[in-house]
Amino acid sequence: MTVPDITIAIDGYSSTGKSTFAKLIASTFGFLYLDSGAMYRGVTLFAMENGMISDGTIDEKALEASIGGLDLHFRRDEGATRLWLGDRCIESEIRTLAVSGMVSPVSAIPFVRAFVDSRLHSFSEGGRVVMDGRDIGTTVFPNAELKIFMVADDAVRAQRRFDEMVAKGQSPVFEDVLSNLRERDYIDSHRETSPLRQAEDAFVLDNSAMTLEEELIWIRGIIQGRFGILE
Ligand code: DC
Repeated sequence: MTVPDITIAIDGYSSTGKSTFAKLIASTFGFLYLDSGAMYRGVTLFAMENGMISDGTIDEKALEASIGGLDLHFRRDEGATRLWLGDRCIESEIRTLAVSGMVSPVSAIPFVRAFVDSRLHSFSEGGRVVMDGRDIGTTVFPNAELKIFMVADDAVRAQRRFDEMVAKGQSPVFEDVLSNLRERDYIDSHRETSPLRQAEDAFVLDNSAMTLEEELIWIRGIIQGRFGILE
């Protein structure tokens, strides 16, 4: 199936499988995948490593003073897109529970959102991009030709995140993972700037009980219907 040069926006709650699904779309249809959450995680890691977060409090002034010069960028490496901070790949450091615990408050800061939005736009030039996040279909790319909003049961989502962390050699406690996830959902959907919400023209995908193969069948159907592709 040949998919036109469109922008695909995927939004949804934490650990609904957005990035796995977006990567699958990218590799199946030849799109560039960009993970907007990674950027927020990168800003959070930078703030933590530079003493701008202590006891859960963010030194917003210090962060604002240095964010303009922050060299956060994506690099393509063997088909995958990875996040770099200067000359350091930070792809694994940004996935720890410590970063997950602070990323929602950091991402609620308006100047952080403006910084990430401008980076995302510059990396998306040329189109044929699939991007996942919380506000892609509502704020970053409100004119995206295809918008998907992903949801899944809390317990299913926590188990997924838990398994992911174990696979990376971390030792999470299931209850901590579940409460972090619920807390992030709450902060993400209640913040003032670009809160997480479903775009009116988004297709909803509840993948609580779906395999990746079924998700692929679903998106093929959506694309065929939306763009009048017959095959
Ligand atoms: O998708 P993720 O869990 O890696 O995202 C990390 C955090 O970044 C998430 O809790 C909220 C924030 N985020 C956001 O506010 N807007 C986006 N477009 C993507 C992520």
